Amino acid sequence: MAQLVRFGVSLEKGLLEAFDKRSRAKKYTNRSQALSDLIREDLGKIACEDNGEVAGAVVLIYDHHKRELVNKLMDIQHDFGSLIMSSQHVHLDHHHCLEIVAVKGNAQQARQLADSLKAVKGIKHATLAISGMTGNAK
Ligand code: NI
Repeated sequence: MAQLVRFGVSLEKGLLEAFDKRSRAKKYTNRSQALSDLIREDLGKIACEDNGEVAGAVVLIYDHHKRELVNKLMDIQHDFGSLIMSSQHVHLDHHHCLEIVAVKGNAQQARQLADSLKAVKGIKHATLAISGMTGNAK
């Protein structure tokens, strides 16, 4: 059996509650197992899409009143101009914007874009959903 290592993790309360809820829905009986599988799933995704061509979208939710944030998001998107097919902006409510950035191109670049956007301070939600294009050409 592989050696087990214990480590401490700090999470927002709401995030942990959501994780526990997800774990219960997936019939996990302990957090360690649920977290291990989640990490394996993520590492697996990275491995199979590393060098391939992908298409997908980065989905962001943020408060547009943070002006610096909006400028930073724009700068990053310009840096990845050749990867971005289009973007859609939806004004959710007085504070919040939803932005969907459609991408097509190298998987690593798509992840770099998503990681750069996620790292901007003030982003409330950021996900990357991509599908491999390699082998799908008809
Ligand atoms: Ni807006």
